[in-house]
Amino acid sequence: MSVNKEIKRVTTHSLQAMKAKGEKIAMLTAYDYSMATIVDDAGIDVILVGDSASNVMAGHETTLPITLDQMIYHASSVVRAAKRALVVVDLPFGSYQGNSKEALNSAIRIMKESGAHAIKLEGGVEIAESVSRILTAGIPVMGHLGLTPQSIYKFGTYTVRAKEEAEAQKLREDCLKLQELGCFSVVLEKIPAALAKEVTSSLQIPTIGIGAGQGCDGQVLVIHDMLGINKGFRPRFLRQYANLYDVMNEAVQHYVSDVKAQDFPSDKEQY
Ligand code: KIV
Repeated sequence: MSVNKEIKRVTTHSLQAMKAKGEKIAMLTAYDYSMATIVDDAGIDVILVGDSASNVMAGHETTLPITLDQMIYHASSVVRAAKRALVVVDLPFGSYQGNSKEALNSAIRIMKESGAHAIKLEGGVEIAESVSRILTAGIPVMGHLGLTPQSIYKFGTYTVRAKEEAEAQKLREDCLKLQELGCFSVVLEKIPAALAKEVTSSLQIPTIGIGAGQGCDGQVLVIHDMLGINKGFRPRFLRQYANLYDVMNEAVQHYVSDVKAQDFPSDKEQY
């Protein structure tokens, strides 16, 4: 199916309509103006300013260190680029877990200071009060269940979640709770495809999967992973669409050797 370029701006309502029509939702992360311009122009439906910026932009091992101010900086750069896509921003670790007032203040700062269209946070029933308070302020909320990287030290590993029935049942209940509260969508990360498919058909709101199989209403990947900028990160769920690490590395090597050989700049490249 081709991209519907008629849509002036993708909204939470457009995503709901896509689910109803059976049109899959394409979402990617972006963290800066130039990358977001390319992604938006290529017809992406949703740009996620993910807290994965902590890994791919800042080089941290986990998503935990990134701050609210840093997320706002990334988000406002992306918002300036996005002409069509819906821009969703992660609430970073430590900006919403304390209490629902803190969660609301963090969500308001993101919306007010970056101009983004929605926020995402990780968790189910435990964060129901915060989700509800943010929604009451008129801020659209996307949930995130399954592997929730902000809880990595509780899980211990990045392996597939909800393989056991007890955890699968908790995930079903969390999904229903997020829908009942009024979330417009939920990300399902690294869970069995059969469970993601079952949950997707039981929900009215769209699910967006990452490592959750083809039964979800949409898919999301981290842009650096799918473009092959991250050398060596090759989980099973990742399809790498380019090998930009090698492309960029070769270009830089070429430049270095041209400068050293006094081949750059040439007569035509100077004033
Ligand atoms: O931060 C992020 O990039 C995410 C996606 C992996 C869903 O939350």
